[in-house]
Amino acid sequence: MFVLAHLSDPHLAPLPKPRLSELIGKRATGFINWRHKRHLIHRGDLLERIVADLKAQAPDHIAVTGDLVNISLAGEYAPARGWLQSLGPPADVTLVPGNHDAYARGTGQHPQLHWGDYMRGDDGALFPFVRRRGPLALIGLSSALPTAPFMATGRLGTDQLQKFAALLERFGKEGCFRVVLIHHPPISKRSRHFKRLVDGVPLRDTLTRHGAELLIHGHDHVHSLTFVAGSHQRIPVVGVPSASEAPPGVHNPAGYNLYRIDGGAGAWRTEVISRGISPDGDNVIEIKRTVLE
Ligand SMILES: [Fe+2]
Ligand SMILES: [Fe+2]
Repeated sequence: MFVLAHLSDPHLAPLPKPRLSELIGKRATGFINWRHKRHLIHRGDLLERIVADLKAQAPDHIAVTGDLVNISLAGEYAPARGWLQSLGPPADVTLVPGNHDAYARGTGQHPQLHWGDYMRGDDGALFPFVRRRGPLALIGLSSALPTAPFMATGRLGTDQLQKFAALLERFGKEGCFRVVLIHHPPISKRSRHFKRLVDGVPLRDTLTRHGAELLIHGHDHVHSLTFVAGSHQRIPVVGVPSASEAPPGVHNPAGYNLYRIDGGAGAWRTEVISRGISPDGDNVIEIKRTVLE
């Protein structure tokens, strides 16, 4: 049995004081939005309780699917690294970035600069990368790129998709349990035009053609389970809420998932345990248990 924990979208607070020169373009509206609304939604105290509960479950590995920061201020990345280190060392925690981690062009290199060792393959490769842990091949994709104001779209690009197809093929043949990590969901009712993964259709085609055992994502801030058609078996696509959202809100309260993976090639059994903050905000409780088949 291998236990993978999955949390996402912590949107870490507090926001450092921005320099005036940083508040141009998209960051200006993002900053106003944070000051008016989002700082009340994403609470550090709830995130701390979620992380404590997750650690008490002693998972074998932790996956984080992006949106660590908020408006990509230069001062947001080092504290976010501190938070990653509080989860565990780079060997035990795998990260892919979200749209808020690549909010502005000026800090485009900062995720690699500060968090690079959490988002590299065993061979040092960048996106797409692979890490082998137990029976798992964790495949990390980056859909994060700077976009115009009011847009939160993601894109993988042809080159990344081609390399991704080859990795699925290779690790499928090796009989691994292939877990794909991406910030944007490949299919979503919630991700409307301005939030969607632009190349969701080619991603789904690639998954259908080459297969995968599980895809996990963030971005929508809710518990979700959908499926992509596979050549042999349908592929579960699982989303988690933000790890810091206060109840009651428009999304699910702060939560995370545990995937308990058992079996072997062609006969995997995966149980998903969703845990999160109770509706009254007082405790971390089990929300639901689902067996994927
Ligand atoms: Fe997010
Ligand atoms: Fe996002």
